[in-house]
Order: sequence, then C-alpha cells, then structure tokens
Amino acid sequence: MYRILEKKEIGMRHVRFKVHAPHVARKVQPGQFVIVRAFKNGERIPLTPVAWDREEGWITLTVFVRGKTTMRMATELKEGDEILNVAGPLGNPVEMKRFGRVLAIGAYAGIVEVYPIARAWQELGNDVTTLHATFEPMVVMKEEFERAVGRHILEPVPIDMNKSFPENMKDVTRKLTEKVRELLEKEHFDLVLMVGPAGDQKAVFEVVREFGIPMHVDLHPIMVDGTGMCGSCRVTVGGEVKFACIDGPGFDAYKVAWDELIARVGYYTDMERRAMEEYMKALQGGGE
Ligand SMILES: Cc1cc2nc3c(=O)[nH]c(=O)nc-3n(C[C@H](O)[C@H](O)[C@H](O)COP(=O)(O)OP(=O)(O)OC[C@H]3O[C@@H](n4cnc5c(N)ncnc54)[C@H](O)[C@@H]3O)c2cc1C
Ligand code: FES
Repeated sequence: MYRILEKKEIGMRHVRFKVHAPHVARKVQPGQFVIVRAFKNGERIPLTPVAWDREEGWITLTVFVRGKTTMRMATELKEGDEILNVAGPLGNPVEMKRFGRVLAIGAYAGIVEVYPIARAWQELGNDVTTLHATFEPMVVMKEEFERAVGRHILEPVPIDMNKSFPENMKDVTRKLTEKVRELLEKEHFDLVLMVGPAGDQKAVFEVVREFGIPMHVDLHPIMVDGTGMCGSCRVTVGGEVKFACIDGPGFDAYKVAWDELIARVGYYTDMERRAMEEYMKALQGGGE
C-alpha cells in the first residue's frame, strides 16, 4: 500500500499526488512511468513520476482528469489514504547526454511529463527551452519550469464558449505549430522533444521535419499491464511492431507510423472530447 502524503489541485483538472513509494523513488529515471491501481476492482493506468526524493522515498504524480479512473482519483482519494498498487519504474529512461540546445514541448497535461526530462537535461549542461501550449485555465507548473530550465514559453489559448470543443482544440494545435515554426526559423535547436496528444505530436513533427531537426516523442498508446505481456500498447516504429511499455515510451518521431497510432487512440480521443464538452457546458451554465 502506498500512502498519499499530499494532494493538491494545481490547475483546472490537474491534481498532484505526493505518494510514498520507496522502491520507485530509489530507481526511477526521467522518461520512465509507473502503473497505478488506485481502487479495488479498479483499472490500472499509466502515470509518470514528475519529481521524487530517493532518500525520503516519495514520488509525485500529476493526474489529468480525463475519464472514470482519473476522475475517481481526483475526487475520492484524500491525503492519508492509500493507493493499492504502484508498479514500476517501467519503460526506458530517456537518453542522458549533451545534445546542445533543446526545445521540449508539452501540449495540455503532457507538460508534466516533460518536466523530469527537461530538468535533468538542463542539469546535464543542455540549454533547454520548454514550450507549453494549453487552454488558459490549464496552465500548470509555470514557476517550477522557470526555475528548472533556461527559458519557459507559455502559449495559453482562451476557451471560446461559442466554439465546439474540437474547434477549441484546433486553436491550440494552430498556436502550437505556429510558435514552433517561429522558434525554429529564428533559432538553432539540436533536438526537439514532445509529449501530448498523438494528433498534436504529428502536427508538430511535420513542422520539425521541414527543418531536419532530430525529434524524440513519448507515445501514449493504451496500456494494460505495462510489462510487455498484452500488446495493447503496440506501435509501429521504423516498420517494426514495438511495445511502448517496454521498447518506449520514447521513440524517434521520424520512425513512428503516425496515422496508425492516431487511429488506435481515436476511441479514447472521442471520450476525452465528450468529457471536455460536458465540462465546458457546465462552465457555461455558471458552474465553478
Ligand atoms: C507512459 C504513459 C505515461 C502517462 N503519464 C500520465 C501522467 O503523468 N498524467 C496523466 O494524467 N496521464 C498520463 N498518462 C495518460 C493516462 O494513463 C490516461 O489519462 C488514463 O489512463 C486515463 O484513464 P481514465 O479512466 O481516467 O480515462 P478513460 O479515457 O476512461 O480510460 C479508459 C481506458 O483507457 C486507458 N487509457 C485512456 N487514455 C489513455 C492514455 N492516454 N494512455 C494510456 N492509457 C489510456 C486507460 O488505461 C483505461 O483503461 C500516461 C500514459 C502513458 C502511456
Ligand atoms: S501494456 Fe501490455 S504490452 Fe504494453
């Protein structure tokens, strides 16, 4: 059992948990994740340790409220409660080396997963610029990024209540790709990293490819066991079938079969859209 030492809402639909998990805290490296089962009979979901203390034995996890399990975690779990299972660390750490000038991009909640990687790369002597594109109320971790990396750029997009949710999401994609193009035209970067919805990763990749810059992406296919036993996280990379939980989650963006990945996560994207639409209706109706 893994005790929740702290719980805090850090932005709209973003809840941070500080969890006592010494076996993960001792070994975890940037780029790795854990599989959490919070409730009896509940499902297992992949989450990313964002920060950790090896001696004190805790990790922090930030949950973006997306569907049933994340909603239950955000609403039912309290400080002092215990999480049933935290399995990990899982997946491969990112490469730790001096690349030079790095542009590390997070779309929506993807930025929380960028944090441990960007911070470690900066500490290693890279010059890291982070870029966060999201809806205005979902800006999170601004101060932490400003402390950890060379430069942190925000692209907050207002939610337009007169537009549908997919239209609002398109605004984020447009702003993000425009900003990436502007940065790449003006400055030299040796590497681009991106975490976010597969559609946005592909859109950014198409810009980056024009400049011929190497690009690393952390992929989020559906995961069940997280240990290579079920294949639900399979992705095609460089023409070969890979399991994101053991071969990834990080891959070379130039080798990913983007359209196949987007089709496979499409079911979940629709659910997310519906959940967001309901949330926006509640906001319009004068809710909090
Ligand atoms: C390596 C990795 C690291 C992740 N790190 C984080 C993180 O730090 N913070 C965070 O908020 N989210 C993270 N995610 C995404 C997170 O796992 C999903 O948001 C979550 O599983 C959604 O569960 P749900 O029941 O609330 O939503 P629903 O949409 O109802 O989920 C239904 C089912 O789909 C699966 N699922 C849905 N979306 C995803 C997804 N994007 N990735 C994998 N499985 C999914 C769930 O396991 C669940 O079984 C990560 C995903 C991966 C693959
Ligand atoms: S989640 Fe089952 S093989 Fe990766």
